[in-house]
Amino acid sequence: MKIIESKPDMHEYSLRRRGEGNSVGLVPTMGALHQGHLSLVRKARQECDFLVVSVFVNPTQFGPGEDLEKYPRTFEADRRACEELGVDVLFAPSNDEMYPAGPETYVVQEHLTKVLEGASRPTHFRGVLTVVLKLLNIVVPHAAYFGQKDYQQSVVVRRMAADLDVPVEIRVLPTVREEDGLAMSSRNKYLSPEQRDQAACLYESLRLCGDLFARGERNAQKIKTELQARIDKAPLARIDYVEIVKPNTLQPAETVESGDVALVAVFFGTTRLIDNVILS
Ligand code: PAF
Repeated sequence: MKIIESKPDMHEYSLRRRGEGNSVGLVPTMGALHQGHLSLVRKARQECDFLVVSVFVNPTQFGPGEDLEKYPRTFEADRRACEELGVDVLFAPSNDEMYPAGPETYVVQEHLTKVLEGASRPTHFRGVLTVVLKLLNIVVPHAAYFGQKDYQQSVVVRRMAADLDVPVEIRVLPTVREEDGLAMSSRNKYLSPEQRDQAACLYESLRLCGDLFARGERNAQKIKTELQARIDKAPLARIDYVEIVKPNTLQPAETVESGDVALVAVFFGTTRLIDNVILS
């Protein structure tokens, strides 16, 4: 496996592979790789001739007071995991490489980024979209892989690629969960043992939501009330939002239909966890 730190080297490598008639896949990450990331890597490995995993803790997507400084950095373990899964290139640029003149120009999306995560983290998605577009421009992959856990991220990235005519397929793969249902996340590491136990309430509440839908409940408010009540049973949980939205537009649902998405964001202390399920 090659480790590439420079943008021109990465770009040239990809163009060469593409020129030889190969498909190139990209799994963009901020490192601290867990089974969720690795499931993306495995799928991309099956689907693409050449596979690039990027590891870059992107400062522009962290707001003031968020966890940029303490975000886990585990480069050696990440390198080994990628090597074992047959990744061709680990692209690991520095901050100066990615933003040599500091960040000045951003990709801003008008509406989809203002709700849910965007309402709580107003500058988050302009940072995500900017770095994702930069990575797509540098790596020029045929396909880029994202996890459904960050549902809104997958929607806004897909919309950006469509709106800006970026010739890439955005692949979104199912959330990988711990045994008790907690979605894998690099931020789970911040939880105390007690918080970790109670964090299972996110998925339990979403499953309850799925059960209510399966039993015929279609009133979004009623489902959200039950969902909220389930989370409120965990004394350490503080709800940021509980929402049921239409896919793609992210507009709140009043009457729930198959394909709508239930999403939660919950604080445990200063750690903020998110999760979602697609109702069907
Ligand atoms: O999902 C993530 O880890 C990040 O938001 C991403 C897509 C790698 C951009 O920094």
